[in-house]
Amino acid sequence: MKLVVGNQKTYLNRSDVLDFINHTSDVDCSRAVVCPSDIYIDMYLDKSKYVVGAQNCSCKGNGASTGEISAEQLNSLGASYCIVAHSERRADQHETGDMFVKKINNLIENNIIPIFCVGENLDEKERNLSKDVVGKQILEVYDSLDPSIMEKIIIAYEPIWSIGTGKIPTNPEIEDVTSYIKDLIQDKYGKRVAVLYGGSVNMKNVDTLNEIDIVDGYLIGGASTKPEEFKYIMSKCER
Ligand code: PGA
Repeated sequence: MKLVVGNQKTYLNRSDVLDFINHTSDVDCSRAVVCPSDIYIDMYLDKSKYVVGAQNCSCKGNGASTGEISAEQLNSLGASYCIVAHSERRADQHETGDMFVKKINNLIENNIIPIFCVGENLDEKERNLSKDVVGKQILEVYDSLDPSIMEKIIIAYEPIWSIGTGKIPTNPEIEDVTSYIKDLIQDKYGKRVAVLYGGSVNMKNVDTLNEIDIVDGYLIGGASTKPEEFKYIMSKCER
């Protein structure tokens, strides 16, 4: 079985969310995680069986942070997972390693599983630097974390050049980076971690991706907003 996590970004308005919930209500979605915009978390929890996550959280706890949503607030809403360090936030919001450490610690303290994203850009891939980049992104955060929380964090390997483009790495490439990540954390901290793959996962490539045993699941953007596509992927990941 592979973990299916949908990152719905800001693709959907309220009525689209209701449609999505209605059109996927005929399947068992109790093991899939949906990360909608925070304003729809309640709706998913009220009207569906999805496990619900968030796409981001504040670096700080409750208090004077205008416009932020804290891990404690997410927990009080019922979120079980939260994406951290997505490449869109690294690029658009200039988020950095020290912020990811704070977010991860806040999430763990509030019983929310962080999904920590790493991945190289196209130039780095073409220069054969995928593992170097991903290794650096991991160490700059993990060196500041207490090892006792490391097994609670899920890592998502998301090559930036693959997000929303329809292009994906080959299976051996995904396997290579995934095993590198697992070995790095095992060798340096003695901890085992789950690793998801993300980037243009869809109903056409999920069967091929499922051949990679060491990948523990998928972080899915665009395809997680299309009911038929998401249902298909969920059905393929049950076994
Ligand atoms: P995508 O996005 O599936 O649309 O490529 C993945 C992600 O950004 O998490």
